[in-house]
Amino acid sequence: MALSGTRLLDLGLGAALAFAAGATALAVATPGPAPDDSALRVAFRRPDGLPEAPQDNPASPAKEELGRRLFFDPALSASGTTACASCHQPARGFSDGRPLARGADGRPLRRRTPTLWNLAWAPFLFWDGRAEGLEAQAEAPIEAHEEMGQPLDALVERLGRDASWRRDFGAAFPDDPAPVSRRNLTRAIAAWERTLVSPRTRFDAWVEGDDGALTASERRGLDLFTGRGGCAACHSGWAFTDYAFYDIGLPSRPGAAPDLGRGPVIGIARADRAFKTPTLRETLRGGDAPYMHDGSVPTLAAVVDHYAAGVEERPTLAPELPRRLDLSPADRADLLAFLATLTSSPDAPLPRAATPPPATPPSAGPPQRLARVSQRGRQFAPGRVSLTRGGVLEIANDDTTIHNIRVDAPELRLNSGVQDPGQTVRWRLDRPGRFVAFCGIHPRMRLEIEVAAP
Ligand code: HEC
Ligand code: HEC
Repeated sequence: MALSGTRLLDLGLGAALAFAAGATALAVATPGPAPDDSALRVAFRRPDGLPEAPQDNPASPAKEELGRRLFFDPALSASGTTACASCHQPARGFSDGRPLARGADGRPLRRRTPTLWNLAWAPFLFWDGRAEGLEAQAEAPIEAHEEMGQPLDALVERLGRDASWRRDFGAAFPDDPAPVSRRNLTRAIAAWERTLVSPRTRFDAWVEGDDGALTASERRGLDLFTGRGGCAACHSGWAFTDYAFYDIGLPSRPGAAPDLGRGPVIGIARADRAFKTPTLRETLRGGDAPYMHDGSVPTLAAVVDHYAAGVEERPTLAPELPRRLDLSPADRADLLAFLATLTSSPDAPLPRAATPPPATPPSAGPPQRLARVSQRGRQFAPGRVSLTRGGVLEIANDDTTIHNIRVDAPELRLNSGVQDPGQTVRWRLDRPGRFVAFCGIHPRMRLEIEVAAP
């Protein structure tokens, strides 16, 4: 097949099948007989790689690592207790198991915490798509009073005062003279979020040709999903979403004004009550959690009941939605069995990106008589040392390039001159205080030195 994985995803299931079978693009957009195996295997094939990152935020391992650290660190919130990961919990499919997210003050927010899997392909973020791109999205929850309540400028200033954050921002944005910035913070989070690709499951083994990977019931469920059920009109492609917006007729709540979703964002009333199609991957991680933008549907079985019998007729209802979907108890069981194959085994470890980074040592510990520092990869490691008065600081050049270590404080001036690879500098420090050493050639290398008073 000449189409690349990414192209295929953009085209969605209908178009991909049209390509495969030479039929019209609408062949599966309207409920009908299930397509054959080979067409399905094309339509649901996993992409070969990530889509291209935005030009002004190319991917790099250091940036992704920084984003991962930011995401898991409660230091991003005003209270110091809420991390992005407090709501988007990796072990719960990056959601929180609650019908509605819980804000910093404990009160429920307006919508449910959505998953973060497979957002690299999403053109618009949030249930109503009001943010264009992950970079733009990341500012919102940090500043939102009810989420993390932290003005970004104050946060950036605070992070800039910490040597370990300066080190990580410097490594992530090596060409930026002032790397700890608002823009870089959101760029790092976005770069990391792009790497969150849901893990392979049994369904992928089937897609790749292993007929035995699905049970007969699961296989029938796939037929229902792509055929009579009409689900794949919107839940298309390997991530089971077209990243588009639809009103699926969730029942109105008596006495409450409906959440209008996409309509007000684009100023089109016909798009009122439309929300983003969520990925159906990993929905069962951490249990059968509440579903939908408002968390109003408690289980997957209840989701299927909704599509079969609970859809509320109204002018904004998506025309793609199957009307009068007749599902027997056996059909429902098959459909649920199939949906469960889209979640990886609960025993399988999460991908590394979805796990918190090792804790960064917060302090240099008690003062030492001798502190040894490395410069490998143009970084002082550790980035902070604490010495007793009269203790010795030993800085080895175990890097591949020359360095020039200096301290330029009024009370302490030190200069190593050229330090070739292999050379070690030893200084006895008699003056108590806090100093910063840096490299005259690579000035973003910073070493915090504390010399304890007697
Ligand atoms: C208090 C809980 C909470 C915290 C903390 C939180 N989020 Fe969210 N997040 C939500 C909710 C709720 C939504 C959906 C809001 C909406 O759609 O209107 C959301 C939406 C998102 C989305 C859009 C997902 C999609 O499918 O479009 C991304 C990305 C995201 N959050 C990332 C983050 C990052 C990064 C942080 C930390 C800087 C963070 N969130 C902190 C609750 C939270
Ligand atoms: C018209 C497009 C469309 C069709 C057809 C459709 N869905 Fe959905 N689906 C959506 C949208 C949009 C949402 C989110 C709606 C919301 O939150 O208001 C959704 C939500 C879901 C969810 C909840 C996921 C979550 O994380 O909250 C599941 C599960 C689901 N659909 C399964 C199915 C199944 C099974 C079928 C076929 C019987 C189906 N869908 C048909 C668009 C569609």
